Amino acid sequence: MLRTRQISQVIKVTSCSTTNVDAPLSSVLTPTFWVQKNLSFSHRSQEQTRSRGHIFLKRMVKAIRVYEHGGPEVLKWEDVELGEPREGEIRVKNKAIGLNFIDVYFRKGVYKPATMPFTPGAEAVGEVTAVGPGITGRKVGDLVAFCYMGSYTEEQIISADKAIPVPPSLDPSIVASVLSKGMTVQYLVRRTFKVESGHTVLVHAAAGGVGSLLCQWANALGATVIGTVSTKEKAAQAKEDGCHHVILYTEEDFVARVNEITSDSGVEVVYDSVGIDTFQGSLACLKPRGYMVSFGQSSGTPDPVPLSALAAKSLFLTRPSLKFYKPTRDELLETAGEVFANVASGILRVRVNHSYPLSEIAQAHADLENRRTSGSVVLIP
Ligand SMILES: NC(=O)c1ccc[n+]([C@@H]2O[C@H](COP(=O)([O-])OP(=O)(O)OC[C@H]3O[C@@H](n4cnc5c(N)ncnc54)[C@H](OP(=O)(O)O)[C@@H]3O)[C@@H](O)[C@H]2O)c1
Repeated sequence: MLRTRQISQVIKVTSCSTTNVDAPLSSVLTPTFWVQKNLSFSHRSQEQTRSRGHIFLKRMVKAIRVYEHGGPEVLKWEDVELGEPREGEIRVKNKAIGLNFIDVYFRKGVYKPATMPFTPGAEAVGEVTAVGPGITGRKVGDLVAFCYMGSYTEEQIISADKAIPVPPSLDPSIVASVLSKGMTVQYLVRRTFKVESGHTVLVHAAAGGVGSLLCQWANALGATVIGTVSTKEKAAQAKEDGCHHVILYTEEDFVARVNEITSDSGVEVVYDSVGIDTFQGSLACLKPRGYMVSFGQSSGTPDPVPLSALAAKSLFLTRPSLKFYKPTRDELLETAGEVFANVASGILRVRVNHSYPLSEIAQAHADLENRRTSGSVVLIP
C-alpha cells in the first residue's frame, strides 16, 4: 500500500559507523533513516516516528508474521519494522525464498520458534543492501544465499557469516530451491551414510523437494534407487530423477515390494522423511546392519523405538539434522559449493515446480502439507 505525504524539508542522516574494506565508502553509506520536518513524502517502506521534535522515518518491509500456532490461516502478511545491521550483520533484500517442510513444523508448533510472534522461513537468496560495522568480504550489491530463520520477508538482517556467495551463472529461484535441500542431501548420501555403487537405497517421498534431489544424487553415486510416491504423476517424475523402481505406497505394500525387488535381501539404507506412516515398514526393509536414516516427519513423529527393534537385525538408527552437518563456516561453504557444482554439472536438475507470491504463502503451505506439490516450491517477495 502506497502512502503519499507532503515534504517541505528533509535532512538526510547516514550511519557513518558502517565500514567495509571491500567496498567503496559511498556504496556502504546507505541512508539509514531520514529526519523530516513538515512532510511530503511518498515511500511505502518507511514510516514515521517522533523524537525531540523531529520525525524519523523507520524502514518498514512486508513480512509474514505468526502470532499463534495453527493452520495456514495464522500466516499474516504485515508491515514490520526493520532495523540496521549491527556488527557482524548484513541486510539483504530477498529475491527468492525457498519453501521447506520445516516451515510447516514451525507454523504448527511441532518445532518451537525462539519468540512469538515470529517470521517463519528458513532460506532465501537476495541482494545485500547494507553491511554492519566491521564487515569484510561482503558489500552492497552482492548476491547471497543463506539458511536463516525469518526469511518470509521482503528484506531481513542476517549474520554475515551465514551468507554464501551465489555463483553468477545460477538463477536466484534455482538457488533458493536447492540450497538447504541440496545441502541436506549432501550430508545424507555422503556423510550420514556413504552411498556407493552396489548399494540399494530406499527413498520415501521421492518426488518431493528433498526426495527429487536425493534420488538424483544417489543414482549418480551408482546406487540402485527405490522411491516411494503417492501418485502416478509423481512416479513419472521420480523415474526421470533416477529411481530404478518406483512404488506407489498409497496403493501398494511398500515392504512387500522392496522384498520383491531385492529378492528378500533388503536395502542398505532407508532415507525416511515421512515419519510415522512409514517408520516401521522402513525398518522391515533393511538388510542386517542396515541404516535407518529418519530425517523428517511429514506424516507425524514416529513412536519411540525400543532397542529390541534394532537388535533384531543389528541395525543403525540416526535422526540427523542439517545444522549439525555445517557447524563451521568452512563446512558451510564446502557443502554449498558441492551442491552448486552438482547443479552446474547437471548431476542435479533442480525442479522449481511451483512459484507463489510471498503474500500467498497460506496457499503454498496448504498445498505442501496436502501433498499437492512436487519438486521445489519457491516464494517471490
Ligand atoms: N533433517 C534434516 O536435516 C532435514 C532437512 C530438510 C528437510 N527435512 C525433511 O525432509 C522432508 C521433505 O521436506 P521437503 O521440504 O522437501 O518437503 P516435500 O518432500 O516436498 O513434501 C513432503 C512430501 O512428503 C510426502 N508425505 C507423505 N505423507 C505425508 C503426509 N501425511 N503429509 C504431508 N506429506 C506427506 C508427500 O509426498 P507423496 O505425495 O509422494 O507421499 C509430500 O509431497 C520433510 O519431512 C522435512 O522435514 C529434513
